[in-house]
Formats: sequence, structure tokens, C-alpha cells
Amino acid sequence: MHKTVLITGGAGFIGSCYVLQARQRGERVINLDKLTYAGNLENLATLHDDAAHIFVHGDMGNAELVRWLLRHYQPDAVLNFAAESHVDRSILDPEAFVRTNVLGTASLLRVVTTWWQSLPPLQQQAFRFLHVSTDEVFGTLREDDPAFQETTPYRPNSPYAASKAASDHLVRAFHETYGLPVLLTNCSNNYGPRQFPEKLIPLMLLHALDGRPLPVYGTGRNIRDWLHVEDHCLAIARVLEAGRPGQSYNIGGRSERSNLDVVRQICQILDDVRPRRSGSYADLITFVADRPGHDFRYAIDCSKIEAELGWRPRHDFASGLRETIAWYLNNAEWTEHVRSGAYREWMQRNYASRTEAKA
Ligand code: NAD
Ligand code: DAU
Repeated sequence: MHKTVLITGGAGFIGSCYVLQARQRGERVINLDKLTYAGNLENLATLHDDAAHIFVHGDMGNAELVRWLLRHYQPDAVLNFAAESHVDRSILDPEAFVRTNVLGTASLLRVVTTWWQSLPPLQQQAFRFLHVSTDEVFGTLREDDPAFQETTPYRPNSPYAASKAASDHLVRAFHETYGLPVLLTNCSNNYGPRQFPEKLIPLMLLHALDGRPLPVYGTGRNIRDWLHVEDHCLAIARVLEAGRPGQSYNIGGRSERSNLDVVRQICQILDDVRPRRSGSYADLITFVADRPGHDFRYAIDCSKIEAELGWRPRHDFASGLRETIAWYLNNAEWTEHVRSGAYREWMQRNYASRTEAKA
């Protein structure tokens, strides 16, 4: 019989990718999503008539609802993708991140643990709780520091990273205290189709297409390690299948790039596939006031998941980025719908006060 999985945050960027892959594998998916500004059912449009994708509009912090879902659907696993996920928003409204990422996860853990304790031994043994986390919990690296390992101490710098670190600690604590069979993944920066255009790659791409300035924070020399969202989701599925309970697994693309290089690469691809009337898209690059507490570099050592579970990324950054840009160009309607009034307000709030200097 195929698995049943309860997924939180399955209408977001990464969660929806996981839901689509899970349905391709034949798993039944219960998708609990609050539909915040980042949640979008259009991400799951292809599952419209799919009876094995059960969408539930609700909050993972709603204990009564989660209890009912667990009893009714008896999932083999719970995967927690739901979160407030944008660093800049966490700087302007930290409490929202504590509410969702810390309190929401704590409530979910408590309800799942109580239900799990009531299961017969074999079902209890087979059950897994997988928590999707980030490399940002490890803090920041200098240019020549070794990449983050699973054993690297946590040293979060933004309210977002601190809230994710707190939720990771709770997940570990529920394993140590109650024996809940948890798995934890810490992944680097994702890119790919359906990413909300507050994040670097879709934001730069859409600004470029609109002929607007491309707002690079600080010097643009900060480094991120990029991984295609489909590779992240395949890694999560592999950890769920064969990871050791109580363990964490780092996931990354071994694809470090400075922000400026990423933005220039987006411009080059656009110059090629959608040339401007005159000049290059790179002419739009504008340096703006830096993000406070901006982590300089993230890099992931993913040798553990490679060696233990045989996972490898399938996409390379150059072709993955090209395909991602093609997806946005071919899905202008998706973009139009997500750039609603609330999105425009966010753009005003985050960017209006940043002083600009032309490249
Ligand atoms: P996202 O912001 O695109 O989506 C988050 C989803 O969670 C949305 O659908 C939202 O509606 C839902 N949600 C928020 N609060 C909820 C609640 N209380 N109950 C139920 N649903 C709720 O985020 P994403 O980029 O897809 O990230 C998913 C997860 O992966 C997050 O936990 C994030 O920390 C982690 N992560 C993201 C990246 C990245 O590069 N985007 C990298 C590593 C890890
Ligand atoms: O590392 C994993 C993390 O990656 C995830 O946990 C987060 O959920 C996800 O949002 C992402 O965090 P970042 O802060 O790295 O992503 P973001 O796309 O916001 O920014 C990437 C880099 O680009 C970062 O150094 C800041 C810079 N940047 C970002 C924006 C939005 C700019 O220079 N200009 C911008 O307008």
C-alpha cells in the first residue's frame, strides 16, 4: 500500500514541489496550509481533480484540527515545511516568526507526539516526523572557512534564523524526551519555478523584465550555495525513506556564487532570450543599503547525505537557472496573480528607505 503523508506548508514554494513529487510517486497527501501571502493554490493547479491530494486550509498551530487530521487520515509521516521564510520580513516583524516557526512547530510536535504514543508498536516504529530547516541556523562563514557540517554549532544571526534554530532544538528535544522518531534537514538556498518574488532570483528577474532597478544589497559579494528545489525535495524524500531517526542531514548544491554573480548571470540569460531594445539588463544593477546583520557566506558540506543515503543533485546551476527563467517567462499569469496589492506594499516597505548608488 502507498504511503499517506501529512504535509504542512504544501502550498508554498518548496512544499508544493514536494507535494507534486509525492503525488507522482503515488503517495496520498494531506496538505495543511494556512495560505499566508506565500501560500498559493495555483502552485498545485495540476492536482485540481486529484482525490489523493487532500488540501486543508488551516494553521499547523491549531491543535484540534491537527489532532483530527491525524486520527482521521493516520499518516505514516508528518513533514513540516510550514514557516515564515523571508529574512527581510523577519527583520521588520520578528514576533510573527516566533509565532509561526517556534510556537506553531511546538504545538504541532506536541499533538503529533500524543497521537503517536497512542499507536500500536509497529505503526509507532514506522512513523517519522521530518522537519525542514535551513543552513542559516549555523550563522555565517568567512570566504575560506570550511562549509557547515551537521556538527557545526548553531549561531543564528537573523530573527528568521533564530526562530528556525529554536524549532530545530524543539524537534531534537522531542526525540530525546519522548522518543519521537524525528528527522531534520538543513538546506541551502533554493531556486526554481514558483518561488515567491520577494527572494533574490525571482525578484531580480521580474524587476529586470519591468525595466526597474535591480537592488543588490551592500557590495553584492555575499555568497550563497544554490540548489534546485526539485533536488531539495528529492533529498527530503530520501531522508524520510532511509534516514536514521534522531539524525540531521545537510543538503546543498556545492554551487557557491556571490549575489552579484547570480544577478549578472540572470541578466546574461535575459540578454540572450529576451534582449532589451538597447543595452544590457546589467545596466539596471543598483547597489542599495545592506541587510542589517547580513550573513556573508553560507556553504553546505553535504557529504553525509551523499555517503549514507546516496543522494546527489541532478540539476547544475547554469541550466537550472535558465530553465527557471524560462518557467517565469512562460507563466506570466502566475506572476501577475502573486504580485497583488499586498506584494506592492511589501516592496514599498522593504525597498523605499534603502539609499541607492548606481553600479
Ligand atoms: P514559503 O514562504 O514559500 O512557504 C511557506 C508556506 O507555509 C506557505 O504556503 C504558507 O502559507 C505556509 N504557512 C505559513 N505559516 C503556516 C502555518 N502556521 N500553518 C500552516 N501553513 C503555514 O517557504 P519555502 O521557501 O517554501 O520554505 C519552506 C520551508 O523550507 C521553510 O521551513 C523554510 O525555512 C525552509 N527552507 C527554505 C529554503 C529556501 O531557500 N526557500 C532553504 C532551506 C530551507
Ligand atoms: O539559506 C537558506 C535560506 O535561503 C532559507 O532558509 C530562506 O528561507 C530563504 O529565504 C533564503 O534566505 P536568503 O536570505 O539567503 O535569501 P534571499 O533570496 O532573501 O537573499 C539571497 C541573497 O541575496 C542574500 O545575501 C540577500 C541578497 N539580496 C536579497 C534580496 C531580496 C539582495 O541583494 N537584494 C534583494 O533584493
